[in-house]
Amino acid sequence: MTEVLATGAPGLVDEAVRRAAALLREGDVVVLPTETVYGLAASAWDGAAVQRVFAAKGRPSTNPLIVHVADEAMARLCVREWPDSASRLAAAFWPGPLTLVLPRSPRIPDEVTAGGDTVGIRLPAHPVMIAVIRACGFPLAAPSANVSNAVSPTTAAHAAASLAGRVPLVVDGGPCAVGIESTVVDLTVDPPRVLRPGMIDEDAIAAVLDVHAPAGRAPGPEAPAAGPLRSPGQLARHYSPAARLVVLSWTDDADLGRQMAEAGIDRAGAHVLAWNRVPVSLDGVRVHVLPRDPAACARDLYAQWHRCDELGATAIVVERVPDAPPWRAIADRIARAATPA
Ligand code: TXA
Ligand code: MG
Repeated sequence: MTEVLATGAPGLVDEAVRRAAALLREGDVVVLPTETVYGLAASAWDGAAVQRVFAAKGRPSTNPLIVHVADEAMARLCVREWPDSASRLAAAFWPGPLTLVLPRSPRIPDEVTAGGDTVGIRLPAHPVMIAVIRACGFPLAAPSANVSNAVSPTTAAHAAASLAGRVPLVVDGGPCAVGIESTVVDLTVDPPRVLRPGMIDEDAIAAVLDVHAPAGRAPGPEAPAAGPLRSPGQLARHYSPAARLVVLSWTDDADLGRQMAEAGIDRAGAHVLAWNRVPVSLDGVRVHVLPRDPAACARDLYAQWHRCDELGATAIVVERVPDAPPWRAIADRIARAATPA
């Protein structure tokens, strides 16, 4: 059975933190809120506990996990080196949706890093998550709290639906404020590279590090390499709703209707997510408006996909967003969800 604990009042927070920390100390797994997406946490010092994360998710153990810390001192325990670039990025963006990839400390077991020599670390901006890490006294390895390849959960209800019966406890910390996964930046290469785009964009990182990539292009996602997976960007299809997802851009409703027909999309089960040219006259199609502001759009995107699935959508048509900061991370998640299995 999976229990869901609320945190909407001070006494409830204390109780949820106590229960979560007790399970984590015993080597069990717990779903916890972060500001990006809900995470499925286990002790980052305990390889056997981390194996339970992979088992619950049905995730290939070749995909490394992000380690969550409560402060910079704990981050330093997880790594062999803490370069000036890490200090600067941590000062600028922590707590927040930025993961730093650094040389791993011997205390981090192979299960966390998929056997690789680096570890991804972040200091999340969610008070409940931080309270649980403090109560445990050890860092928490946590991937997104969904079965492998499904859309990441941005509410406790999404996580509980995805992992029902596979985890003992879900702590409800409310809807995630950021809504898509953290930016992952590799600090073991020079210049540093963004492995997974997120809402802290390449330009913001380059400005803090004072690096200027050639041709005005900040460090971007890298090409696949051998060895352990270095970012989920190497799994082309990721973050996918159950419905077929198609990205289109259109000039007006008639144009959209034509393109949907050409793509073989049955209007009866179709849901359109639009932020710019919102259709008003397409018979049979359900329309959801995405916010025009990128931060608000990111916060809403996965919840909209979850809702389309819950409503039995057979196809989700997403209006194309610009592939440039500050939209790049959103464009990346949409493109991955649209990749055929
Ligand atoms: O926002 C987030 O990052 C959320 C919340 C829970 O913190 N976590 C998350 O975890 O998205 P996950 O497991 O779904 O994605 C983490 C990705 C992995 O797919 C992995 O490829 C990359 O981060 N990663 C982790 N450790 C890495 C490493 N040592 N080197 C390169 N990439 C790494
Ligand atoms: Mg994930």
